[in-house]
Amino acid sequence: MYNIPEFNLINKEDVMSQGSKVSSKFMIVIWVIAMLFIGLKALNAPSNESAHEDTMIDSAALERIKPIGEVRIDNSVSVASSISLEQSERSGKEIYTAKCQSCHTSGVMGAPKYASLEDWAPRIDLGIDNLTKSAIAGKGGMPARGTCIDCSDNEIKLTVQYMIDSTK
Ligand code: HEC
Repeated sequence: MYNIPEFNLINKEDVMSQGSKVSSKFMIVIWVIAMLFIGLKALNAPSNESAHEDTMIDSAALERIKPIGEVRIDNSVSVASSISLEQSERSGKEIYTAKCQSCHTSGVMGAPKYASLEDWAPRIDLGIDNLTKSAIAGKGGMPARGTCIDCSDNEIKLTVQYMIDSTK
């Protein structure tokens, strides 16, 4: 019967120390979390660079989530660009000299020669629209758009007209 209280006492101590072990482990974990939190806050807050980075990330995110098409209501810009489009249309003579002359002056592969009414007469009968169509699509030895890949349909038409006019 003498042993029992002693046993109880040891047992109590054991339980107590176990309890304090658990709670001190818990405290360390809490402390580490708190320190990490404070440390991260301290890293982020006072530094201007990371604040700058944050705004950069923000604008990058905005860039990513912005709508695909943006409507432009700047009239002066669109008027200016349509004027420059009109201005950039080349004349038939310019295009002929740059792109068509190489074949149509010599008449290689049966190309109707520039200023030759004999060559052009049967074709003129087809009409400017049909001639323009076959010049755009290509015909026999005649490559599509006469190799002028950046020529608009209307520029091809102007050039065909220029070639037809050469026979008059
Ligand atoms: C690589 C040589 C070559 C070049 C470059 C070329 N042509 Fe031709 N073109 C031909 C030949 C060959 C024919 C005759 C095709 C046929 O009737 O079979 C022809 C025919 C045509 C015809 C008559 C089409 C028809 O329906 O009878 C037109 C119009 C014409 N070319 C316009 C042009 C214009 C405009 C250019 C320049 C933008 C051009 N060609 C550049 C070779 C060329």
